[in-house]
Amino acid sequence: MAKKVSEAEIQKQFDYMKKISEIDFQRKYYIFTLGCKLNEADSEKLAGMMDNMGYNATDSYEDANIVIFNTCSIRENAEEKVFGKLGELKNIKEKNNMIICFCGCMAQEPHVIEKIKVSYPQVDIIFGTHNIYKFPELLLNKISSDSKKKIIDVWDIDGEIYEGLPVKRESKTQASIIIMNGCNNFCSYCIVPYVRGRERSRNPEDIIFEVQELAKDGCKEILLLGQNVNSYNPRDDYNFANLLQDLDKIDGINIIKFTSPHPKDFKDDVIDVIAKSSKISKVIHLPLQSGSSKVLKLMNRGYTKEQYLDLAKRIKQKIPDAMFTTDIIVGFPGETEEDFEDTLDVVRQMDYEQVFMFIYSVRRGTRAEKMEGHIPEEVKSERFNRLKSLSDKMTEEGMNKYVGTIQHILVEGESRTNKDVLTARTLSNKIVNFEGSKDLIGKEVDVKIVSQHVWYLKGEIVK
Ligand code: SAH
Ligand code: SF4
Ligand code: F3S
Repeated sequence: MAKKVSEAEIQKQFDYMKKISEIDFQRKYYIFTLGCKLNEADSEKLAGMMDNMGYNATDSYEDANIVIFNTCSIRENAEEKVFGKLGELKNIKEKNNMIICFCGCMAQEPHVIEKIKVSYPQVDIIFGTHNIYKFPELLLNKISSDSKKKIIDVWDIDGEIYEGLPVKRESKTQASIIIMNGCNNFCSYCIVPYVRGRERSRNPEDIIFEVQELAKDGCKEILLLGQNVNSYNPRDDYNFANLLQDLDKIDGINIIKFTSPHPKDFKDDVIDVIAKSSKISKVIHLPLQSGSSKVLKLMNRGYTKEQYLDLAKRIKQKIPDAMFTTDIIVGFPGETEEDFEDTLDVVRQMDYEQVFMFIYSVRRGTRAEKMEGHIPEEVKSERFNRLKSLSDKMTEEGMNKYVGTIQHILVEGESRTNKDVLTARTLSNKIVNFEGSKDLIGKEVDVKIVSQHVWYLKGEIVK
């Protein structure tokens, strides 16, 4: 069972939070969150701690006195974005008496720390993915010292699971819950195992308690998060299927989603639990990465094209209304035109609801970095565009299927682009906009889909 941070240590952090709230008044904070939903969930914890320390969130980083960069290393463009923004802040730091904090996956990479030390003196505090819970302590050290010296606290050992620190959730009705940290898979292109460490599963009792509390507070939908949720395994006699079963029983929670499962670990027990449940989403994210068995082997994915298609078939047999979304990397080293055609072939056969596509990006220290046959940028872009046109066509046809149907959905709020319109998502994550009273926010309604637009469906409330 994964080790937990002691209650005494968590209490210490609460004491630091209280101390800060007594000495540092009326300050504003802003968090830049890059990367995946796990990072978004970590940012909700950072925001929870900031609020507890008496700081106020601001929508504009230019007004902030504390800025936190919660970073992502998955692809080069995610990293470049951060350095660009850090550069911008240099000029306003003095004016706002600003403290700049840098955390998340990039903070776990030694070459990034070196770069910040040499070229970004504006950064005050750096901490990694394993010790987020120590943020109050690091911040207090900074505030109570006159030194301009950076505080750097990054661990290269796997962090322990921590419970009980405040969380500031974006929504009252929908909550993301991290069920496990880290990844053991070492897909040859991927940086995550290096920056997040080995798999550590949270105790089911802690997760169940958290979801029960959320349900009492009006939460209707939960999203379970981990890099490979179906290897969730806190102890020998308890796995992901058991967790889904236990969460399924909690009154008040009506929708359960999870991401990401790994095709190689997707076992029949989980398929059976989904098939029997009326709460667990039938939209399954099944990351393909490549349709070529040769490339999948080079990627160290642990399945072939045939095994992937067979898994999808088994899922469909037991869950006839299952729908799939996926992640695909284009231009992995050694990918030939024929390999790429295999990817297009699987995409056509799977008829995905949504395809998340990425151009292969070399990550320092990964096995693929040293592989032969890196693909020229123009070939990667050309393949990416071909995959995108296929996926756009499928998405459009997919949206068409909804027109005329009635969808039972949870009203999320006002549309971002038009405040007079309410917005919600179908179980398959399609945005639905419709007119209705603001009192409906957080409630479930039946909406008839009347038309299809590029990015959304238009609906009318029927009840
Ligand atoms: N654990 C998840 C993936 C998380 S990363 C899983 O295995 O499905 C999200 C996606 O980023 C991956 O699925 C992959 O498609 C993409 N990705 C990861 N490393 C990448 C790289 N080096 N270049 C391009 N895309 C990458
Ligand atoms: Fe990366 Fe593979 Fe782990 Fe996903 S399963 S996080 S792609 S190493
Ligand atoms: Fe990025 Fe880290 Fe997530 S590398 S994708 S933020 S786990």
